[in-house]
Amino acid sequence: MGERRPESMERITTPELAKAFIDEQVAALKKQVGDKKVLLALSGGVDSSVVAALLIKAIGQQLVCVHVNHGLLRKGEPEQVIEVFRNQMNANLIYVDAVDRFLDKLAGVSDPEQKRHIIGEEFIDVFAEEARKLDGVEFLAQGTIWPDILESEAGIKAHHNAGGLPEDIASRFELVEPVRILFKDEVRMVGNELGLPANMVYRQPFPGPGLGVRCPGAITRDRLEAVRESDAILREEFAKNGLEGKVWQYFTVVPDFKSTGVKNGQRTFDWPCIIRAINTTDVMEVTVEHLPDELIDHLVKRIIAEVPGINRVLYDYTPKPPATVEYE
Ligand code: XMP
Repeated sequence: MGERRPESMERITTPELAKAFIDEQVAALKKQVGDKKVLLALSGGVDSSVVAALLIKAIGQQLVCVHVNHGLLRKGEPEQVIEVFRNQMNANLIYVDAVDRFLDKLAGVSDPEQKRHIIGEEFIDVFAEEARKLDGVEFLAQGTIWPDILESEAGIKAHHNAGGLPEDIASRFELVEPVRILFKDEVRMVGNELGLPANMVYRQPFPGPGLGVRCPGAITRDRLEAVRESDAILREEFAKNGLEGKVWQYFTVVPDFKSTGVKNGQRTFDWPCIIRAINTTDVMEVTVEHLPDELIDHLVKRIIAEVPGINRVLYDYTPKPPATVEYE
């Protein structure tokens, strides 16, 4: 018999219920942690951000956040983590610039599973190195949520936990998982109530390997930059056109082939940029969002004009199945 959400637990659907949850958790965290320190890998995703904000409210400077920039984050993400948590919430935040380390390890690696493996392993190595430098930390906080528990019980996927860390690190810590009994919409409610910015709370799902899976084949810095810049333009245009928070997931992919084009009377030989925008409830089946023609025309113009290395823009009309959401 698996773990259960407490029977008495009311679904958090209002700001008042979110506030009551926060008060309860803050008291529980204070009691659990006492005057000890807590370590948290803060990606800037919804779950880890809400866990950070809860712990900052409960124990302030006793929380040590580690934000690893692996070079595969979206444009502006590391800057936002620093701004929100270090500057606005006064958190104890260690920022690790591991961009070269990750991209050097990934250079020349084209197999998708090997890329995922390298990114996952390297992340654990970087985090473990930071953990070893710290004294007196007894707790490890994680943004585990209720669907993670259900999925690992059903054997669908192992949710990320201290199991991934080397034994000398994992054995030092007791786990703190303050949002483990919440569904995603409840985590968002709590994040709102804690004052996190809306674009952090309503962020679309983003794969762990980040932009790495949107730069198919061996990642190069110039093609990765083309993915990052085109993704930023797409997100900006979706926000301007009221599609943010309405379309489930949208992103760009820059595949590793070139085609001929023409610009100012000169031949070009550059990559295409693929736009994907999808809707789903369970990610097992997805449908394609049909964008207005004018928006597609505008996106084509902006991406070609502003992103170096792109001379063609394509729109992916394939549902899942038969295609998956991501390209790798
Ligand atoms: P697929 O491509 O499998 O994607 O149809 C379904 C959803 O899962 C996300 N995704 C990942 N998330 N690590 C993650 O944390 C991964 O390796 C990964 N691969 C895919 C994808 O963005 C989509 O929302």
